[in-house]
Amino acid sequence: MRTAMGHDHYRHAHDKRLRTKFHWLFKIRKFWQSDVNRDALALAAPGEGDRAVDIGAGMGPATVQAARRGASVTAVDPSRFMRTVLSMRRPFQRARSRIMVSDGVAESLPVADGSVDVLWTVNAVHHWVDLEAAFDELARVLAPGGRIVLMDEDFTHPDHPQHATHHDHEAETTIVDVAAIAEALRARGLDATGEKTIGGGVPVKLIRATRPA
Ligand SMILES: C[S@@+](CC[C@H](N)C(=O)[O-])C[C@H]1O[C@@H](n2cnc3c(N)ncnc32)[C@H](O)[C@@H]1O
Repeated sequence: MRTAMGHDHYRHAHDKRLRTKFHWLFKIRKFWQSDVNRDALALAAPGEGDRAVDIGAGMGPATVQAARRGASVTAVDPSRFMRTVLSMRRPFQRARSRIMVSDGVAESLPVADGSVDVLWTVNAVHHWVDLEAAFDELARVLAPGGRIVLMDEDFTHPDHPQHATHHDHEAETTIVDVAAIAEALRARGLDATGEKTIGGGVPVKLIRATRPA
């Protein structure tokens, strides 16, 4: 676990602008429940008693579902705005005692070594600024037998319904190269695969990994 004086240097400039916050707010329905989150979670399969981490949890569409399934979820996000929205949502959840909202970034996760059974991130890898540091963190926190699902919508794919408006999305953000990420995770002792596929009905980039038990 790294100590940090704050996480702003781990965020792209556009993530910090107020306009972006309102952009997310307008899309709120998508963030309360989304098909991409549902499919990512189906692959991650958090279950009863699992210690789970949702990296870049946002307003918590996956966090809330995973807690309902019996996992204890640490929802990590560097945005105070997102953490505030999720913290306001939390008391209305029957599974609220299994939801913890934490300040942090993929590059510096607020969880102990080898303490995570299942970890996922949805539409957040392109926000990570230091991929090598993030991969070190994934490998550090994952328990033996633990599993990882990284899913990012692929706006570069012409079949994505928002391709026309978002195709240059990668110009401002980190490029998600599924093969390179899988390779980086394998170099850290995990079994990992990367592919371009369909998730939530749209083209996605998907990396799955496990730590041998
Ligand atoms: C597009 S939103 C996705 C939120 C949520 N996972 C969902 O699917 O609704 C991306 C989230 O990543 C967070 N984020 C930005 N930089 C990050 C970083 N370096 N590490 C982890 N999360 C980050 C943002 O604050 C934001 O909440």
